Amino acid sequence: MSETEALQKRFAATFMPNYGVPPVAISRGQGCRVWDADGREYLDLIAGIAVSSLGHAHPAIVEAVSRQVAEVAHTSNLFLHEREVELAERVLCLLGGDDPPQTPPAHGGAARPPVPPGGRVFFANSGAEANEAAVKLVRRIAGPGRPVIVAAERSFHGRTMGALALTGKESIRAPFGPFGLTVRFVPYGDARALRAAVGSDTAAVFLEPGLGESGVVPAPEGYLRAAREACDQAGALLVLDEIQSGIGRTGAWFAHQTAGVRPDVLTLAKGLGGGLPIGLCVGLGAAGAGFAKGDHGSTFGGNPVACAAALAVLDTIERDGLLAHVTAVGEHLAAGLGGISHPLVAGVRGTGLWRAVVLTAAVAAEVEAAARRAGFLVNAVQPDAVRLAPPLILSIAEADQFTAALPGILAEVSS
Ligand SMILES: Cc1ncc(COP(=O)(O)O)c(C=O)c1O
Repeated sequence: MSETEALQKRFAATFMPNYGVPPVAISRGQGCRVWDADGREYLDLIAGIAVSSLGHAHPAIVEAVSRQVAEVAHTSNLFLHEREVELAERVLCLLGGDDPPQTPPAHGGAARPPVPPGGRVFFANSGAEANEAAVKLVRRIAGPGRPVIVAAERSFHGRTMGALALTGKESIRAPFGPFGLTVRFVPYGDARALRAAVGSDTAAVFLEPGLGESGVVPAPEGYLRAAREACDQAGALLVLDEIQSGIGRTGAWFAHQTAGVRPDVLTLAKGLGGGLPIGLCVGLGAAGAGFAKGDHGSTFGGNPVACAAALAVLDTIERDGLLAHVTAVGEHLAAGLGGISHPLVAGVRGTGLWRAVVLTAAVAAEVEAAARRAGFLVNAVQPDAVRLAPPLILSIAEADQFTAALPGILAEVSS
C-alpha cells in the first residue's frame, strides 16, 4: 500500500464523510509546486481553493509567521496587539479610494502607516465567519423594520447557518433550513430583477463580484453599479463578498474597484492570509459604526500569526508588483487555453488568475482526474467547468506547461 493509500484509509476511518476521501495527500510545497506523500510532484493550479496567494513556503510568510509565533501566537480579543491594528490600517488604506495607497513599512519599521479613510474592521477566521459578521452587522443597522436580505441564485457564501441561508444553491441549502433569515433570491446578473427585489423592506443586498463556486462567472458589465443604485434608492446596504475574488485574484486588489463600485460592507478571507486562516468583515463609511460594544466577537479573530501572514501577503503583492503580474499571466493563460481547439472545450472565462475552462460536456471531474495523472492540480468546480485559481506568483512558463498539457489531458478523457 502506498503512503497516500495508507493515509486515505486512516482519513476514511476517522473523518465524517462530508468531503469524501481526497485523492491526493499533500506533504509539502514550494512555490507553485506541491509533492504528495509518495513524492509525486504537481503544479498547483488551485492553491487550496484560491488561498495560497504567494504559493507554498514563500519566504516572506515563513519569516513573518515564524517571527510572530516566537513573539506571541495568541492574545484573544481581551487584549490588542500591533499586527491586527497594522493589518486593519493596511486594508482600509487599500480600500481608500482611487489614489494608490502609501506603502507603510513592513512591520517592525519605525514609521507608522498613514491614517486610513473611514471604515472599521471585524476580524474572523474564515470566509463563512466573515459573512456571519456581515449578516449580523446589516441586521443590527437595518433593525426589525427591514427583515429581508436579497441574495443571488447560484451564489456561494459559506456553510454556517447565516452564510448558508444566503447561498443560492438549493442542493446545499435545502437540507438545513429553516434558517431564521428572510432571503429573497434573484437570478445573478439580471439588473432588472435585482432592482425589483430591493425595496423598503430590504436590509441589504449580498453579492459576489463574480460567482466563484458556480464556475468563475463574472458579473455582467454594469451589474454591480445597478446593485449600488438599487441599494441607494431603497436605503439598503450593499455587501460584497470578495472572499474569493479579493486580494489580487483578478489583477486588482478588489474586484469591485475595477467595476467602479464601493460597497458598504466587504468580506474577505482566503487569499488574505496566504494559507493561514483569517476572515475580515469591513464596514465602510457609516456601516463601520453599526456594531455596539458586545454585539459580536471571536476568540481567535485577529490572531497575531494570521495577521502577520496577511501583512506579508500584502507587502509581497505590493513589493513584487503582483497585481500587474496577475493580469499579464492571467491574460497569457487565457489566450493560450482559448487557442486550444478541441471538441470538449467551449471556451475560457474569468479574469486575472481566476479562470474556468468551460467544457461542452459534463466531464469536469474526469478532466480533473486526468490532469492530476499528468501532474496538475485543478478543480472540477462545476460538472462542465474546470477552475484554475493558482498562486498569484504563477510564472508564464508554468502557465504554458498546463496549456501545453491540456490537449493530451482532454484526449485521455475523450477516449
Ligand atoms: C465567495 C465565497 N464566500 C464565502 C466562502 C466561504 O469561505 P470559507 O470556506 O472560508 O468559510 C467561500 C468559499 O469558497 C467563497 O468562495
